[in-house]
Amino acid sequence: MKKYNLTKYKDCTNLLKTTPLTEHYDEVITDDTAFYLDDVCIGIYVNIDKELLTYVREAVKDTKYVETYRANTLPTKSSVFGALPRVALLNDFCRFSNKTNEEKQNTNKLFTFQQTLCDIYKKHLPALYQYDLEKARETVNDDYRLIDTPYTTANINVNHAIKYHKDSGNIKDSYSNVLILKEHCTGGELVLPEYRIALKQSDGALCIFSGQKEIHGVMPIQPYKEDFYRASIVYYTLAQLEHCYPYKQEVTRLNLKKRERAVKRKDNKDPRYNGQK
Ligand SMILES: [Fe+2]
Repeated sequence: MKKYNLTKYKDCTNLLKTTPLTEHYDEVITDDTAFYLDDVCIGIYVNIDKELLTYVREAVKDTKYVETYRANTLPTKSSVFGALPRVALLNDFCRFSNKTNEEKQNTNKLFTFQQTLCDIYKKHLPALYQYDLEKARETVNDDYRLIDTPYTTANINVNHAIKYHKDSGNIKDSYSNVLILKEHCTGGELVLPEYRIALKQSDGALCIFSGQKEIHGVMPIQPYKEDFYRASIVYYTLAQLEHCYPYKQEVTRLNLKKRERAVKRKDNKDPRYNGQK
């Protein structure tokens, strides 16, 4: 593994929500690298052996995606597996995504890969790995943790050339990870403009870094064959899962809420409550 001493050249807050450009970096990282800032390792880039990717690739190819966005760009799609927090009104209870139950094999394949991911994370960034694992254990009830890793949830996002941003919504200070699987397309490098580097997103590239602190974005993707794809697989734990009760209690809470709402609706219709006799 190469060691790379980072230099923070400038604040790039002004680039947030813009598309990464080649002029934002001087170097493309292609070899396995540990990134250091002031003698502290703050991120890694690793090319994972192809045979370790067999199952996760099958999940990427087999899942039935939801198309998410289409506007002057490549069609994008995604699938979500694992635990999700309450979403008021829409899904007012903590649960597993529909895909988790509908596609059990894909869920298993994706969650099994976490072991490879965590082995790499633990090996190169042991203190950060431990921090993330303990935070997940403290924050999230075991009913929502399919596996004892820092991650409860996995997304497969296809052809997302995402603009510059910082990650949000995950457990505070937890590290982000991105695994790339791709065929028949070029581009899609992960750019960290403040350090003037880009990480080549070859098939099997894994990046672990602080996506909450570092501005990052993805270069446009150029297909050269019809059956192309560039999938980014991310594992994470949403901070909102801290509010989840154990599953049985969560169901009881949902039923109570439903009853409360039904009573409210009835009361609103009751003439005694709207001035009629
Ligand atoms: Fe991100």
